[in-house]
Amino acid sequence: MTSASTLSTFAMTTPLYYVNDVPHIGSAYTTIAVDVACRYHRLQGISSLCITGSDEHGQKIQRTAMEKGRSPQEHCDQIVESFASLWEVLDIRLDRFIRTTDPRHEAIVREFFQRCWDTGDIYLGQQKGWYCVSCEEYKEERDLLDDHYCVLHPNKQAEWRDEENYFFKLSAYQEKLEALYRDRPDFIQPDSRRNEVLSFVKQGLQDFSISRVNMDWGIPLPIDPKHTLYVWFDALLGYVTALLESDDEPTLENALAKWWPMNIHLIGKDILRFHAVYWPAMLMSAGVAVPDRVFGHGFLTKDGQKMGKSVGNTIDPFDLIKRYGSDAVRYYFMKEIELGRDGDFNEQRFINILNADLANDLGNLLKRTLTLSNKNCDRAIPPVSPDAIPDDHPLKSAGVSLSKTVQDCYERFAFSQACEPLLNLVRTANKYIDEQAPWSLYKKGEADAANVVLYSILESVRLAAYWLSPITPNLSTRIYRQLGYDVNFNGSHKAFPAFADHIQWGILPPKQPLGETDPVFQRLELPT
Ligand code: MSP
Repeated sequence: MTSASTLSTFAMTTPLYYVNDVPHIGSAYTTIAVDVACRYHRLQGISSLCITGSDEHGQKIQRTAMEKGRSPQEHCDQIVESFASLWEVLDIRLDRFIRTTDPRHEAIVREFFQRCWDTGDIYLGQQKGWYCVSCEEYKEERDLLDDHYCVLHPNKQAEWRDEENYFFKLSAYQEKLEALYRDRPDFIQPDSRRNEVLSFVKQGLQDFSISRVNMDWGIPLPIDPKHTLYVWFDALLGYVTALLESDDEPTLENALAKWWPMNIHLIGKDILRFHAVYWPAMLMSAGVAVPDRVFGHGFLTKDGQKMGKSVGNTIDPFDLIKRYGSDAVRYYFMKEIELGRDGDFNEQRFINILNADLANDLGNLLKRTLTLSNKNCDRAIPPVSPDAIPDDHPLKSAGVSLSKTVQDCYERFAFSQACEPLLNLVRTANKYIDEQAPWSLYKKGEADAANVVLYSILESVRLAAYWLSPITPNLSTRIYRQLGYDVNFNGSHKAFPAFADHIQWGILPPKQPLGETDPVFQRLELPT
């Protein structure tokens, strides 16, 4: 696996979301994870590009717009606004937001199509089959429920189509794709998803249709404008268009110049085939390098049930953030759910976890320790030389070995695993303060011993806050400020504390004046 520390740039994408409706919690989930990965790379001083966008063409959007009595473009413009405001309230540090209706995107798509055409990988044929408009995909009859209802959209019936379409010769890439998966075992992650793709490809790849007739909400085919380009062929190329600088001519050469190959596409498991099979084959056809990795995450459920409008159990991300704050939402989804596995949202558990981890274990500990430091150390970090603390001190020994473990987890996008050792350190510190009772040590006149207790706890909280900063940037900023640093983890990464120093245990400057002590995380309560 590529070690991030050797990267000079890092670029990562969310899927480009359909704008048939306002964003749901699933879109928020993927975007948080991409933001966390980009923030982790920025902490190390690696220039990073956090990319998201909207997939605006196709029948699904066209029909939704019609139902609402709007033109497709008006409809898209309106929904895109709600995505943009969600990313803002969720503290997503976005670098690019690509819309597939951007005219520059059309130029990229046309050039890319031309390359595949010139390679001889596109031909005209007849497409007969069942089409699910919600998936924007033809389905095999055996993969549909009774009466041709879609497995993924059980209230939507697939529609019979028999029309002339242009096809992409996916079958010609069978061996090349197998070689890619074999030579680059990291290409599809996690392993369970890789295995799914391998067994799908082993059944034999079939060419897929890449144009539609009688559908004008899309990009016309350069060689035959009666046809519009299939929405997936168009949307995947959004990842390339997103890389154009604002003053670049929209050419493939320009788009691919700096950030390509993309480091990672993070997607949900339902769209793995498009990213791990169709996309690399399209790129090979156009003579473009394939991305480093495709990571398929799991699905979210609510109270153990599949979420959906028909069930009436969707979670509104705006509502959740309004009630509990963006750090809380970010923390729950990153800490509670292993990326790659399905995970559940339950509001009571959400509250319990946040109160236990952030309000009690971390927040209360910091408040107690700062109160004692304010009182006994002149509102400053206790005057203790970290070198004088023995290596077998329980917090020092845990703190010194922590960063390697946490960094390894971040590298593997194992954000939930990354949180574990951080919380363990904080829990050890809670036990330690109770056992050592520094307030009594001060009363007994043992100020040096008490100072060591406070210093080692504050330093442990600082280290935990540093490593949590990609996930909870606001909380980490508050902690750092109360410890006396002038730091903003939501500010410019150029002003971030130096990575090589801040991942060490024992860097809090003795006697550094403390900031104002306030609760860093308010206890949450279920609305009554
Ligand atoms: N437009 C395509 C992607 C094109 S990328 C070039 C698309 N859009 S989508 O809006 O339908 O889905 C976006 C993402 O949301 C997908 O990765 C999908 O897996 C994810 N999710 C949809 N429901 C979800 C959950 N319940 N839980 C987690 N993610 C979910 O597909």
